[in-house]
Amino acid sequence: MFLEQLDRVEPHLGPLARMMDTLRRPKRILAVDVPIHRDDGTIYHVEGYRVQHNLSRGPGKGGVRYHPGVNLSEVMALAGWMTIKNAAVNLPFGGAKGGIRVDPATLSTAELERLTRRYTSEIGVIIGPDRDIPAPDVNTNEQTMAWMMDTYSINQGGTQPRVVTGKPITMGGSLGRRESTGRGCFVVAREAMRKLAIPMEGARIAIQGFGNVGSAAARAFHAAGARIVAVQDATGTVHNEAGIDPAALDRHIRQDGGRVADFPGAIPVADEDFWALPCEVLLPAALEGQITRDNARSVKARLVVEGANGPTTPEAEDILLDQGCLVLPDVLANAGGVTVSYFEWVQNASSFFWTEDDINARLDRVLTEAFEAIWQVAAARQVPLRTAAFITACTRVLEARALRGLYP
Ligand SMILES: NC(=O)c1ccc[n+]([C@@H]2O[C@H](COP(=O)([O-])OP(=O)(O)OC[C@H]3O[C@@H](n4cnc5c(N)ncnc54)[C@H](O)[C@@H]3O)[C@@H](O)[C@H]2O)c1
Repeated sequence: MFLEQLDRVEPHLGPLARMMDTLRRPKRILAVDVPIHRDDGTIYHVEGYRVQHNLSRGPGKGGVRYHPGVNLSEVMALAGWMTIKNAAVNLPFGGAKGGIRVDPATLSTAELERLTRRYTSEIGVIIGPDRDIPAPDVNTNEQTMAWMMDTYSINQGGTQPRVVTGKPITMGGSLGRRESTGRGCFVVAREAMRKLAIPMEGARIAIQGFGNVGSAAARAFHAAGARIVAVQDATGTVHNEAGIDPAALDRHIRQDGGRVADFPGAIPVADEDFWALPCEVLLPAALEGQITRDNARSVKARLVVEGANGPTTPEAEDILLDQGCLVLPDVLANAGGVTVSYFEWVQNASSFFWTEDDINARLDRVLTEAFEAIWQVAAARQVPLRTAAFITACTRVLEARALRGLYP
């Protein structure tokens, strides 16, 4: 899919297209054996990867996932998308990604710690604060980053907070990081709504996924006067035309142990009816491959904001665009997380920490500028926003490549 997306932008790149093969191949691939002692004394081996797709614009940046489905081609593609995402919002990073093929649910906390430390040590030969900076992804979190930072630092002989982002706040993590992806979805949606002349006040928002991304986005839309009319998560779907209070839903789930499906402030509806609910903005913020050719025609929204990675299949996107629905692509819509990761790295470099208001204002500026640049490309070339984001990103990467030249 990544290679197909590159094929589609190639005709738009003019003379830079001659260097396109540089984006078709990762710069560097490292596959490592990760042996650990299980708690019962046996030794267990798993396979880990770190792929640096492109480093033309700066050090590699991308998450680390622990999942039984992880394989090298997946990590290669995810690293490629990080190159595009970082360049699309103009962060001074290349693209990278890492993973371990393991089901973390089968490991104890002590085993997970040993796994993380050995993996970090193995990939330690290519990561580093100015070389490649990992972050959390599927099934990894702040604790994982704390172990990675500690292991790398011990091997280097001194504390190196800049080697990872997404750290706990007490050890150099950034304020606002947790909310940043959802907040970023709101910022780019707000800009798109201005272009489409959809008033924020009273706008109806339907959100799939009420985890990190979906709940933060819901709070930002609610605070700006929009109405969260529908929420769907793994437990079910609820609807309330008058608006769901995201803070009340949060309390219901996180304090009272409730589920989205039994939230008293809304009416349950069938999961399959979610996509056809009337709304101005639809925010898929759960899984990939959710809007398909089977449900795309029923979507009433004027704007789809891809909070998740890859939630819209290519066929579904064509249907949505034909219906006059604008799709804000994941490489722009969910780039708020990596943007605040960049702020974390910058704050660590100066050992000077910004306020949350400052971080949110800078995040807003980075994403608003990125949105406007991509919007202008889409208008000038008469292409969808996803193609425009790829054109913008590939142009930046290949221009850097051309200026740096080919060594030797
Ligand atoms: N967290 C980030 O900073 C970040 C950054 C970029 C992209 N993303 C992407 O955003 C998406 C969500 O990430 P997150 O961090 O919010 O995850 P999360 O685990 O916090 O939340 C996931 C949500 O999806 C819901 N869900 C799971 N299966 C579902 C199903 N079958 N139907 C409906 N809902 C379902 C869960 O109930 C949960 O509410 C993922 O695609 C992720 O890759 C996240």
